[in-house]
Amino acid sequence: MGERITSPVVPVSRNRSMSAACMTLAGKILMTTKKTAITLLLALLLALLLGASCIFLGAPPVETSRAAEPARPVEPARAADPTVQIEERQREIRKMSAAMLIIGRFLKNEGATVADVGTSADIIRAVAAKMVDGLFPQGTEVGVGRSGARPEVWQQWDMFRERASDLIKATLQLTAAAATGKAEAVQTPIRAVGQACAACHELFRRKRP
Ligand code: HEC
Repeated sequence: MGERITSPVVPVSRNRSMSAACMTLAGKILMTTKKTAITLLLALLLALLLGASCIFLGAPPVETSRAAEPARPVEPARAADPTVQIEERQREIRKMSAAMLIIGRFLKNEGATVADVGTSADIIRAVAAKMVDGLFPQGTEVGVGRSGARPEVWQQWDMFRERASDLIKATLQLTAAAATGKAEAVQTPIRAVGQACAACHELFRRKRP
């Protein structure tokens, strides 16, 4: 219900105070009537009639329409859903493991080429960069949704950043090695990439529930 409209406190003539009382009555009818469609309509008509006579009596017009307007519900700002954030993060991270699978196929001589290894390194690097740029918002640790991110991620954020940056460096070396086109050149950098994954998981990841 809207606020009760009160007449301004100004010295009024006898006639005007009469019309002010009349307006208050019109307002009260609107306030107290139950708001089913029909009663509201009737109340509105009655209030309009009263309002009209109030005007006739020389009072300022009553804002009947404003009094009758239902309060608009205020929609609260929607907070980002941590469960969705976690799912999106894990989907993003799985791009890294898919890239690692391709690298594995190269190592096992199962069709992937040195060029594929280079492309995979680029994919991993892109995700590693996102890891410290939005993929781990506060409130998405183990215990929330199906997160496998230990609280240490946020408690030791600098260390976490360092682990991500180690992975970025390792993938840069792998990209450079793959660019030579030589299968021998990528062996050592591939191992370094795998170690960078493991080094971060050791501290910051728990197998997800
Ligand atoms: C900077 C730290 C860090 C690095 C580096 C890192 N990870 Fe992770 N990884 C995590 C964390 C933390 C989680 C848990 C995320 C979650 O469950 O929300 C995770 C989860 C995963 C998951 C599970 C995803 C899922 O579907 O739940 C896979 C697979 C994975 N990482 C693979 C890798 C691979 C492959 C690499 C290296 C190419 C890598 N990670 C490098 C921190 C890291």
